[in-house]
Amino acid sequence: MGLKVFNDLAELEPAQVDALLKLARRLQDSPEPRALEGKVLALLFLSPSLRTLSSFQAAMARLGGGAFVISPDMSIHGLETRDGIVMDGVAAEHLREAIPVISSYGDALGIRAFAARENLEDDLADKQFGRMRDLVKVPLINMESAIQHPCQSLADWKTLDELKVPRQGGKFVLSWSWHPKALPLAVPSATLHMAAMRGMDVTVVRPDGFELPPAIMDKARRAAAASGGSVTETSDRRQAYEGAHIIYAKEWSSTKHYGDRVADQKLRENLQDWIVDEPSFATARPDARFMHCLPVRRGVAVTDRILDGPRSVVIQEAQNRMWGQMAVLYQMIGPGA
Ligand code: CP
Repeated sequence: MGLKVFNDLAELEPAQVDALLKLARRLQDSPEPRALEGKVLALLFLSPSLRTLSSFQAAMARLGGGAFVISPDMSIHGLETRDGIVMDGVAAEHLREAIPVISSYGDALGIRAFAARENLEDDLADKQFGRMRDLVKVPLINMESAIQHPCQSLADWKTLDELKVPRQGGKFVLSWSWHPKALPLAVPSATLHMAAMRGMDVTVVRPDGFELPPAIMDKARRAAAASGGSVTETSDRRQAYEGAHIIYAKEWSSTKHYGDRVADQKLRENLQDWIVDEPSFATARPDARFMHCLPVRRGVAVTDRILDGPRSVVIQEAQNRMWGQMAVLYQMIGPGA
């Protein structure tokens, strides 16, 4: 299975996801340190990262290739991202030149660019990423855009398989958590779709005003219908957590007040009890696990006791980023291409 673009698990057949997971496991168990010899991965980070930045570089190193990173935080000319403006301000370089130049040095390109969070429709359509995608002539990896995070989803699927969480009948709860700031919809959207595509019974639990948009919910429901899973949404945490195999915490923006920082802040100011703690697991399965994509704020989204206890698999998820991405790179620019 060659891969030209890794953008959204929904663009793959379930059998293709399974093949990637099988390959990830194979590369983990039987290293192939020369598989990407002579290959270069270009990485453009327009938004911050710890895991994505390091796991892609580690993945390339483990497969015998190399990677370079470009980010506005480095000593480069200021990068302009907007189209159709007169560049008489600080930025001296436009993405319209920077992306073709960077990608011409690599065999594949990864781009991270978080949502602008100004206009919900634009972010749901992943407009900014789409504009950048049009400038790329080499295989492309979405390292998190306004609405996608396929690398996280692949790693989380691998983690669920390792935990032997049943595909059919497994209960997966995507649980909104408090955060001092409004955060993007990429991870909740991608995670919901991953769990639905895996065939699980998914419950999204969130306070009023933080409903995931119909476009995200409908897409996940279609995936669930195809996989034998289900998708429901509630604001009742007690009901949501009952019988859960997984509580996956994630912080996200108010969708009622998307792009309105003041209204979002007002809506979330009394929601600080939306934290995952030991009582959250009271009616979950005894072996229920806690998941989060990281970074996570301790004592804000989840308690120390959960993060440091046996329920938490956040480090396993993070490590699986590297194995999953190795499989993607192998199929994109390696022997599987
Ligand atoms: N989960 C994740 O993408 O982590 P980073 O933002 O640190 O890359």
